[in-house]
Amino acid sequence: MSALLSWSDELSVGIQEIDEQHKVLVALLNDLHNAVLSRHGREAVGPILGRLAEYTRIHFAVEESLMRILDYPRYEEHKEEHVSLIKEVNELHRKFNDEGLNISMNLLHFLKDWLGEHIIHSDRDYGPFFLSRGAKTSWKSKSWLKRLFH
Ligand SMILES: [Fe+2]
Ligand SMILES: [Fe+2]
Repeated sequence: MSALLSWSDELSVGIQEIDEQHKVLVALLNDLHNAVLSRHGREAVGPILGRLAEYTRIHFAVEESLMRILDYPRYEEHKEEHVSLIKEVNELHRKFNDEGLNISMNLLHFLKDWLGEHIIHSDRDYGPFFLSRGAKTSWKSKSWLKRLFH
């Protein structure tokens, strides 16, 4: 089955820890796409949508912490974007649960842009900045903090 969104270098922010989290989001979108295409039904689609909303909140909280710790100058505008993205996915999840909304191909493409455009236009901006503040491109240590910082 074809992927809704394929991982490529275009999506990389240049920091493995963050790329791994973005890959989880991409995988959840593709799971959602597969569940809709194979007509697995609302019982299969609902939990994936829920996980997507939940992991998005976790991921955004991590990014925002890093931005505050590293004193990223565009923190406020990035945070505002996160707030509206979270609202959109929560609203979708709520309509799915309460109003019987179906996840259409249009909605899947909306979610593809919802994630892809934010990574490409906003997340990729902090990559070089984080690296200039000592973030590591990749990790070899098992310690979570050492994965990110020298
Ligand atoms: Fe992100
Ligand atoms: Fe972000």
